[in-house]
Amino acid sequence: MEKKISGDPRQETSYRSIGATTLLAPLPVVMVTSGRQGEDNSNIMTAAWSGIVNTHPPMLSVSIKPSRFSHDLILEQGEFAVNLTDRRLVRAADYCGVRSGRDVNKWKEMGLRERAIPELSCPGIDSSPVTLGCRVHQHLFLGSHTLVIGEIVCVQVREDLFDGDGSLHLERAGLVCYSHGVYQDLNRVLGFFGYSVAREEVLKKRMLAYRPGRAEAGKRKSATQDGQGRKRNHR
Ligand SMILES: Cc1cc2nc3c(=O)[nH]c(=O)nc-3n(C[C@H](O)[C@H](O)[C@H](O)COP(=O)(O)O)c2cc1C
Repeated sequence: MEKKISGDPRQETSYRSIGATTLLAPLPVVMVTSGRQGEDNSNIMTAAWSGIVNTHPPMLSVSIKPSRFSHDLILEQGEFAVNLTDRRLVRAADYCGVRSGRDVNKWKEMGLRERAIPELSCPGIDSSPVTLGCRVHQHLFLGSHTLVIGEIVCVQVREDLFDGDGSLHLERAGLVCYSHGVYQDLNRVLGFFGYSVAREEVLKKRMLAYRPGRAEAGKRKSATQDGQGRKRNHR
């Protein structure tokens, strides 16, 4: 059962200081693939320290400890892929985050299949909702982790996430996030980009389309736009 957060957010709230730490949440759970497709070094590692860092050209970052098997693979090969994790993949994501490719073949252990990324020689994970293929743009050692910045050179999206009209519904993917040691799913759409200022009729129509089971009822404008024809994502 969902626990309701009570209280008025405008009222003064008490806090506990816990020192300087990395408590940013929620974080994406991504499965980073590297090595060469079909070869022995092909590997998967889980990462939560990942994010988008630039729009033009599109770039993302992943922070990777030098001790990871994936670390040198990625830097030597100059490429990797970021695969988003959904509910069906979450157990495999956990496993790929606690076992090293030095010791086990995680593809075999988790029954995962490689999927070719035509632009790159590393594989993507078949069944992952979205795979972003990247070429290493820069890397910077920060003290414990290497910040790897990848230019996104291609993106593959699972076919079932598109409506008949071609609009992408990532909210139906069952994506999973990571928050202070636990995996959680993203159950409910609470709003959309710009909803706080959307016109009443736009707000109603869009929110109705996001209701569970209303996928088809909401044959709406391209999911890349808000109700007023503007790009939906912050850029
Ligand atoms: C949820 C989760 C998130 C993780 N995030 C990161 C991360 O952002 N960076 C990192 O270096 N390791 C991270 N790890 C640890 C690596 O995934 C783990 O050490 C893995 O075994 C490395 O695999 P490899 O040696 O085959 O490359 C994470 C593990 C889990 C379970």
